[in-house]
Amino acid sequence: MTDPRLRVLLPADQIQARVRELGEMISADYPEGNLHLICILKGACFFLTDLARAMKRDVFVDFMGISTYGKGKTSSGEVKVTKDLDISVEGADVVIVEDIVDSGVTLNYLMHVLQQRKPRSLQIAALLDKPERRLRPVEVKYVGFRIPDEFVVGYGLDYSEKYRNLDGICVLDNTSA
Ligand code: IMP
Ligand code: MG
Repeated sequence: MTDPRLRVLLPADQIQARVRELGEMISADYPEGNLHLICILKGACFFLTDLARAMKRDVFVDFMGISTYGKGKTSSGEVKVTKDLDISVEGADVVIVEDIVDSGVTLNYLMHVLQQRKPRSLQIAALLDKPERRLRPVEVKYVGFRIPDEFVVGYGLDYSEKYRNLDGICVLDNTSA
């Protein structure tokens, strides 16, 4: 895909190496018990599939649909559950798998929702973190990369549903919100 608006921030091999490290780290932190990876649709599904395969143990995989963003780059600030889990997390170790933490609104809300379902433990793995943008507090235990305040696409992340299938992560320049 050649698009003059795209500037590579994280090439595919760098992402793959870091995701493997995170998979090994998480496996080591949960040597036993039921571990649920909860993928936040749609952006995190590329990260989830690589992360799950990098893990050295059995995991349950489940999906949750949450939307805060409209079609462009700006958040509506409203959180909506568009698809709930299929498997109960009661008594289980749970790791939420998210593509990026931006304002923190989504994950702050989701932590409250999932905490009420009585998991044994609840942590977050996010491939990307933009700490400068935080509006709500979120404790992210596993972070792939901290990035500057720029809008990025690829490896699951989209702009108006486009660019998700880029294998690297790119900054998208010159677009209005
Ligand atoms: P938050 O609730 O503001 O933390 O937003 C989290 C969601 O916003 C992510 O799951 C993404 O779907 C979306 N998002 C935030 N920043 C970006 C970006 O730079 N590129 C693409 N999507 C983003
Ligand atoms: Mg998302």
